[in-house]
Amino acid sequence: MQFSVKSGRPEALTGDCAVVAWFEHNKLAAGLRALDKACGRLISDALKRGDLGGKSGQAAMLHAPAGSPFRRILVVGCGDQGKFTRAVYRKATQLAANSIALTGARNATSFLPEPEDHANGITQALDTLISVEQALYRFDTLKSAANRQPKPKLTRFSLCVSDSKTRKEAEEGLRQARAISDGIKLARDLGNLPANVCTPRYLASTARKIAGRSKQASTRILGPAEMKRLGMGALLSVTAGATEPARLIVIQYRGAASGQKPTVLIGKGITFDTGGISLKPGRGMDEMKFDMCGAAGVLGAIQAAIDLGIRKNITAIVPSCVNMPDGRATNPGDIVTTMSGQTVEILNTDAEGRLILCDALTYAQRFKPDVVIDVATLTGACVVALGPHLSGLMSGDDALAGKLLLAGEQVGDPAWRLPLLPEYGEGLASNFADFANVAGREGGASIAASFLSRFATDLRWAHLDVAGTAWKSGKDKGATGRPVGLLVQYLLADA
Ligand code: BES
Ligand code: MN
Ligand code: ZN
Repeated sequence: MQFSVKSGRPEALTGDCAVVAWFEHNKLAAGLRALDKACGRLISDALKRGDLGGKSGQAAMLHAPAGSPFRRILVVGCGDQGKFTRAVYRKATQLAANSIALTGARNATSFLPEPEDHANGITQALDTLISVEQALYRFDTLKSAANRQPKPKLTRFSLCVSDSKTRKEAEEGLRQARAISDGIKLARDLGNLPANVCTPRYLASTARKIAGRSKQASTRILGPAEMKRLGMGALLSVTAGATEPARLIVIQYRGAASGQKPTVLIGKGITFDTGGISLKPGRGMDEMKFDMCGAAGVLGAIQAAIDLGIRKNITAIVPSCVNMPDGRATNPGDIVTTMSGQTVEILNTDAEGRLILCDALTYAQRFKPDVVIDVATLTGACVVALGPHLSGLMSGDDALAGKLLLAGEQVGDPAWRLPLLPEYGEGLASNFADFANVAGREGGASIAASFLSRFATDLRWAHLDVAGTAWKSGKDKGATGRPVGLLVQYLLADA
């Protein structure tokens, strides 16, 4: 989709479809009266007939008489005018994109007003582009041609703003949004690809392509032999039963002076999680192809950072492998030595995410990071605690946590802080190793974070559990691209 910014009076523009807001219990807004008149009183007639509800989630596609500046006017319900927030704006824009995609319109111009809580034209453009692309995203490359939905005709989308200052801002917003949206799309595609396509090697080749976008980026891909040399006993224990070889993927992006300590993003890249010998039940197991969504989020975020040329050093680390049962697989009770030297009794092979992440955290220390953020579909407990709306954020660093929460809030990719306390790690005590990889069921998200914290000593570190937010189940099954928005917003704000 091509996006552009326009300014000026609505009735002075032309196109296939105009998008206008309708608020509950409202009269025709002054700014739309001339457009209404130019389109044969289309809106006022619909209002008289009672076709315009104004509730958020409602929309009416009106067809204009010949000679009108716009062939169609889409009236989108935006709820209470006093509560027209960015969240409502994003929802209205998504609804608009979906409605227009069902028609033959090739271009559309949005006249939705500025949300009351938005900062400037930048955020309005960000919300517009990202919402339209999110709504029009399809993943049907693996369907045969006859079963694919026809491509929407819509290819050009304009945002009409009030003045030239806002227009300048909105143009900058579109630049940012393009990179973020491409990052989100990459993350969704990677998540949606099945595990027989999206393997650790596939993620590695994707990383090479991402780094190929800039001279300032490079990759380093480690295989099992190097992991062994580095002493990554925990990571290797997870891949022991798999035929598909493991990879530790590193992208280094140098957006700032070499002396500047990097932000390290670590993403869990289990391309399929059967549970291993602690085998998962069969129901819904297909969704464990999404167990690499942390990796996908980190790859999407660093791609966006590279595209934006963010002036920061950023390193992405993706430990990636398949968790399989097999004659060579790790047994419950096996004890491994992690790269940190600490030994771990693997009481449950299904708690594999923390095992690959702990070695990645130790590996991250060599980059002398300023901040480390790991992203993982780590625990079912986080899904139980927060559901599908909020990612779990755990950090001992209040300032870092605050920045991440704010970033997520700003882009509609919110997180919620969960506790990180040594007490949650008490249950990890083991009679045979330094500690075990699981404790009780209660507070499972914080237990996992507490396990990881033992490998993040001396790091400014935060952990994002995206088990509930990275994909949807049911009829809308599919990857969401979260938390790419949160991460990029954080990187932009912190640069
Ligand atoms: N990938 C899963 C977590 C998960 C489960 C995410 C369901 C989304 C939906 C992870 O590897 C896992 O299996 N965790 C276990 C940990 C337990 C054994 C301590 C879990 O949450 O059940
Ligand atoms: Mn698991
Ligand atoms: Zn897992």
